[in-house]
Amino acid sequence: MSAVLGKAPNLTPYRFDPALYDLIILGTPIWAGTFAPPLRTFLRANSLAGKHIALFACCSGGTAEKCFADMRKEVGNCTPLSTLRLIDPLKGNQADAAGSLAAFCTNLKPYQAQPAE
Ligand SMILES: Cc1cc2nc3c(=O)[nH]c(=O)nc-3n(C[C@H](O)[C@H](O)[C@H](O)COP(=O)(O)O)c2cc1C
Repeated sequence: MSAVLGKAPNLTPYRFDPALYDLIILGTPIWAGTFAPPLRTFLRANSLAGKHIALFACCSGGTAEKCFADMRKEVGNCTPLSTLRLIDPLKGNQADAAGSLAAFCTNLKPYQAQPAE
């Protein structure tokens, strides 16, 4: 219901400093075709302007396109470097989950953090 109505529930306190990250990977279960409401609260509280982002969603087999479009709108219409749809193994079968994950990561490689010297 909260997902359908576009709610933004209060979150328990957390620490997040966007200045520490160039790349931010946002993940969510798909609920009623869209992302989980706590993510809306987070995105409204934290501007990701100027960041590289990537999106992943887990589902029981439905489409993820609307979910990703809704997330992009909430972030501010940026273009994600990579998106990944995963199917809950308890709910369905995903033939090439490992291949999809590898492709998702390949697109992010140029932006991975370098180990401190
Ligand atoms: C309230 C609710 C709504 C859901 N709606 C969808 C949906 O629209 N499409 C879909 O493919 N899966 C849907 N699912 C399945 C979840 O996306 C899937 O089980 C999820 O990957 C499991 O993560 P979770 O246990 O953290 O919710 C729904 C699950 C719940 C609980």
